[in-house]
Amino acid sequence: MSPYAAPLTRSVIVTRLRAAGCVFAEDEARLLISAAPAPAELAVMVDQRVAGLPLEHVLGWAEFCGLRIAVDPGVFVPRRRTEFLVRQAAALVRQAAGPVRQAAAPARQAAGPALARQRAVVVDLCCGSGAVGAALIAALGPVELYAADIDPAAVRCARRNVAAAGGQVYEGDLYEPLPAALRGRVDLLAANVPYVPTDELGLLPPEARVHEPLVALDGGADGLDVLRRVAAAAPLWLAPGGHLLFETSERQVPGAVETVARAGLIARVASSDELNATVVIATRPARRTQPAVP
Ligand SMILES: C[S@@+](CC[C@H](N)C(=O)[O-])C[C@H]1O[C@@H](n2cnc3c(N)ncnc32)[C@H](O)[C@@H]1O
Repeated sequence: MSPYAAPLTRSVIVTRLRAAGCVFAEDEARLLISAAPAPAELAVMVDQRVAGLPLEHVLGWAEFCGLRIAVDPGVFVPRRRTEFLVRQAAALVRQAAGPVRQAAAPARQAAGPALARQRAVVVDLCCGSGAVGAALIAALGPVELYAADIDPAAVRCARRNVAAAGGQVYEGDLYEPLPAALRGRVDLLAANVPYVPTDELGLLPPEARVHEPLVALDGGADGLDVLRRVAAAAPLWLAPGGHLLFETSERQVPGAVETVARAGLIARVASSDELNATVVIATRPARRTQPAVP
């Protein structure tokens, strides 16, 4: 900061943020002031924000499901709407584990391998910062968590967010880096894939368009390219009765449902007006039971 510049008071920061188009200038000023270790750093952070860097990249973290998720510059910022996917996923795991956890061991075994285990096997595919996986661990307690992403910057971030809670993070294309031993064992596969149609990328706000990587946003011509690859291989990785969950837009629901149905999964759609979120839950049919002998 120049020695002649006005001191960076709260009201100066608010005025600068407001002039730069920040709608929640007061809240942002409070967060920046509390995050900056010293006045010189505060000046740099305000300049970055005024220049259009997403607030979360300036702070180094995003709030998600009540957690502080580390988010480095260049990594997709977890969206509030994705909290709906986490809620749906956590409810499914609780529903499956609830009665089984309370049951005696023989009853647990009779409930089938996916349910009889004490710890659900959860995969956070296309994990970005690892926000979904971290939130699931926080919501469910100990689970076997595996996360993967193709972007090395995202993987570094995810390791910070999920490794402390016992999750493992892999780098590579979709399922390719996951341990082969997970095939047929995954109870919950959360895949917040990129789903913006290529032609619509230009309509995104600059914070996303300029500061988030294309690989995190671009879903191909109809936005379903990555989903098609995830869905096609999902039956190989899901346990019988296991679920694939992904976010989509309302407009993409028919195509998304058809995609998972083609892979042999049974789809249902959940939506939240409050969070403006749509999630498809695609379930691998449980193993067929033997017909009763008359
Ligand atoms: C929409 S972001 C979601 C990130 C995170 N799950 C979240 O909800 O905040 C999509 C992520 O998918 C990753 N990705 C895109 N294509 C991929 C691929 N072929 N294999 C693995 N990850 C991929 C991107 O790097 C990005 O981190």
